[in-house]
Amino acid sequence: MVDELDPKAVPDYFSNPGTVERWWSPDQGPLAFHYDAELAILDDHLKVDPAQHVLDVGTGRGRFAIHMAKQGCRVVAVDISREMLGLAQEAAHEAGLDGQIRFHESSADDLSDLEQGKFDLVLCMELFDHLPDLGRALASMRAVIGPEGRFAFTYVASESVYGRLGNIYRWLKSWRKSDRVMISRTYSLAEVERQLAANGFELDDHFGVGVLCLNAQTRLFQDNLLFRSTLALARAEARRWPYHRGGRLARMGAHVVGIARPTTRGSR
Ligand SMILES: C[S@@+](CC[C@H](N)C(=O)[O-])C[C@H]1O[C@@H](n2cnc3c(N)ncnc32)[C@H](O)[C@@H]1O
Repeated sequence: MVDELDPKAVPDYFSNPGTVERWWSPDQGPLAFHYDAELAILDDHLKVDPAQHVLDVGTGRGRFAIHMAKQGCRVVAVDISREMLGLAQEAAHEAGLDGQIRFHESSADDLSDLEQGKFDLVLCMELFDHLPDLGRALASMRAVIGPEGRFAFTYVASESVYGRLGNIYRWLKSWRKSDRVMISRTYSLAEVERQLAANGFELDDHFGVGVLCLNAQTRLFQDNLLFRSTLALARAEARRWPYHRGGRLARMGAHVVGIARPTTRGSR
């Protein structure tokens, strides 16, 4: 299992153009329903009001920043990749949201140039698995959040079938080529809760998306029988349970969405 990410090579990878942009298009393709469930969870379980000040860390193509800005929130969107920020800005323009989102090039583990202790909602979606030092990133996100704020995040669960298959795949890749840079890893819920607690957060609720989603990597989907049948399983589950709330099934989602609050203890 790959549980250590290189602290220099991984950020370098994401900062370079032509990397994450090639494989991250969650709104498109056959798995859009899977990623849409993450938005549905936030809509169903976070009270968002237009007066809120939202920070979207690792905004990618800006889907969460745009979703919040459409509800009237003031949004700051940060990413380590200038290329992704450009794409997010284009998407915001197409959505008629010019001026409602401020885009900023920053790494999750150093948000010191943003307002501290003021954000009502901090989002860190689809990013935990690419952070070489989750604790450091959590501490920097804890520092920008207001005392009544909420923190929403996702991670790839090592308890899930998808996470387990991904770990086997990564292990085989690193075994074949030991100098290959691994850019993602998985977490168990217990590890995430430990890291949250160590950095001044307490988990309120968690949700699992896609217990039967065996392959959430859009780029690997091809039009063959194996991939079509894994997709059919995931679709069937999503029709019945768009997501699972709490308990064992939530822990076993391919993606786990968590909602946490800052504790009074503050950041480490
Ligand atoms: C998998 S995408 C997720 C994008 C978006 N949050 C979503 O859910 O659609 C991860 C994004 O995080 C960015 N990223 C990677 N490492 C980062 C870091 N240390 N700080 C900030 N952004 C980072 C990548 O450039 C990429 O745009």
